[in-house]
Amino acid sequence: MTAVLSAPVTIVRPTRAAGSAIPDRAPSIPALAPVVGADAQVPVAAGHSVGYANLDYAASAPALASVAAQVAGALGEYASVHRGAGHLSQVTTRRYEAARETVRDFVRGRVDDTVVFTRNTTDAINLAAHITPGDVVVLDIEHHANLLPWCAPKDGRNRARVVTACDTIEDTLVAIESELASKPASLLAVTAASNVTGEVLPISRLASIAHRHGARILVDAAQLVAHRPISIVSHGIDYLAFSGHKAYAPFGAGVLIGRSDWFDAADPYLAGGGATADVELGGGESSAGTTWHTGAARHEAGSPNVLGAVSIAEACAALAELGPEAIGLHELRLCERLDAGLAHIDGIRPLQIFTDSTDRVGIAGFTVDGVAPRVAAEYLSSEHGIGVRDGKFCAHPLLKRLGHPEGAVRASFGAGTTSDDIDRLLDALGTLCATTTTTRPELDEGYPA
Ligand SMILES: Cc1ncc(COP(=O)(O)O)c(C=O)c1O
Repeated sequence: MTAVLSAPVTIVRPTRAAGSAIPDRAPSIPALAPVVGADAQVPVAAGHSVGYANLDYAASAPALASVAAQVAGALGEYASVHRGAGHLSQVTTRRYEAARETVRDFVRGRVDDTVVFTRNTTDAINLAAHITPGDVVVLDIEHHANLLPWCAPKDGRNRARVVTACDTIEDTLVAIESELASKPASLLAVTAASNVTGEVLPISRLASIAHRHGARILVDAAQLVAHRPISIVSHGIDYLAFSGHKAYAPFGAGVLIGRSDWFDAADPYLAGGGATADVELGGGESSAGTTWHTGAARHEAGSPNVLGAVSIAEACAALAELGPEAIGLHELRLCERLDAGLAHIDGIRPLQIFTDSTDRVGIAGFTVDGVAPRVAAEYLSSEHGIGVRDGKFCAHPLLKRLGHPEGAVRASFGAGTTSDDIDRLLDALGTLCATTTTTRPELDEGYPA
């Protein structure tokens, strides 16, 4: 796998062509990789079943078929990890530890970075907050997972310094730089791609800004890692967090990888077996006689989620095999088709944070004139068998600043998505918007009327 895309994917949203016909949709775009559940059937209001159009990848992506097969294989040889002498315990331990190396390789981590398996991105960023000393600069556009852990009191105070994002990425970089210049901070914690709009932030430039002012950078890659190549070394990232379930590995594990010194200097995230080298009771404090491991083990007390780790490693290997160019191109073609179609539907209003963003992962946030987000999402599901997300996407400050405190609708996609899924969404939204114009009072009361 190459470390970074040779050329950035540029997605320019078409302007609305009101009233004109939905553009020609040929040719069709097949799935890039097989996913589990691609042929699932779901009931619709008309009384029959239709194939499920899963357009909710940003919330949780289906397992890649290869990931499910790998997990099934590991399950067949599963035994206790780390402390068992039996053959299968050793096989399982090797699998678990090898998973760290596959992840490190995939995100181009440094050889001496610590790779901790967590439950998900939320857990990974809470761990990062636990090990990070000092102030943290964050943007107001973040998912709550990269906002609230920094606001939780540490040493008796809230150390999050929240910068309001500007209308452009360029101005936002200036605002971050001036915050870091105004007062020292230990860390800049920033999302790689917005979970509401999919817009990608310039990670290398953010890393340079942080480092210029003596801060480290943590990247929340929950929405990026399965969609764009990411390189800890080339982008200059200090800490990277992501979830397996958004990267085709929905088996309950996530990752925090980064510089070892903060991991080793902090108290263990969880106290318990596996994190200790030696325990002596009878010291003054309850753990005064305990010697804790350094490295990942220090923060992974208790029996780890081996299958979760194995699934993430297989997803990383599979994504590397598919290649960033193919993944980027598949998403670009689907994005272009979706954007072109949405631009032809009167009543759809796409969400965008920055006027100068040029890259976007497979996420489209939008509102439907005259239709509450929940009503629109329920309509898409019950009438058309289409799964999207509605609400505030755990990004309440962002939804407020976008002018939609009541929420929005989000369609998101990835490797298992076909053009048929996109076309079905466009047709359904076209019908909804046409219906809304003629029967709006009825829809205002909620769907079904
Ligand atoms: C950008 C971003 N960060 C963090 C999270 C939290 O991920 P998880 O729920 O897997 O902890 C999400 C989930 O939607 C996200 O989109």
